[in-house]
Amino acid sequence: MSILKVARMGHPVLRAKARPLDRSDIRTAEVQKLIDDMIDTMREYHGVGLAAPQVHESLRLFVALLDTRRPPDDEHEADEEPEPIVVINPEITIVDSAIAEDWEGCLSIPDIRGKVPRAREIRVRALDRDGGRIDLRASAFPARVIQHETDHLDGVLFFDRMRTFESLTFLEEYSRFQKQD
Ligand code: NI
Repeated sequence: MSILKVARMGHPVLRAKARPLDRSDIRTAEVQKLIDDMIDTMREYHGVGLAAPQVHESLRLFVALLDTRRPPDDEHEADEEPEPIVVINPEITIVDSAIAEDWEGCLSIPDIRGKVPRAREIRVRALDRDGGRIDLRASAFPARVIQHETDHLDGVLFFDRMRTFESLTFLEEYSRFQKQD
């Protein structure tokens, strides 16, 4: 287990198009360790998602803390931290072309928040950390995270997706003026 150094905006690795992983590479000790280290790094810095280029590995892989389960029941409290999901070589298709605009942040752009338009509902096909197939639908916040992380694999940062920079906010001011809860 290691906490990895996170690349910040300006590092060229964040602007490169990452390469897909071969299925046979996924089970290698190197890739499995990278995945474990990315999960540790995401948790250390309180991220909800982390893409491999953010830790200087130009591979089509991200980890995220997403609750893609249906509404919480008695056994799963709403505030229970979801299991991290590992998404490799994702292919996104848009299910609902309606656009929702909401706040995003990024570990590579520390202490900044901005409002970003995203498709409301998507389908993602990918591989998991065992090389098994993932095919899931996501809407609202999980759909936003998946789109943000997949953008990292194509060298795209959330600033690039903003309609205007009017909402750009430092975290401290975001907490003072914007945070709902
Ligand atoms: Ni990010």
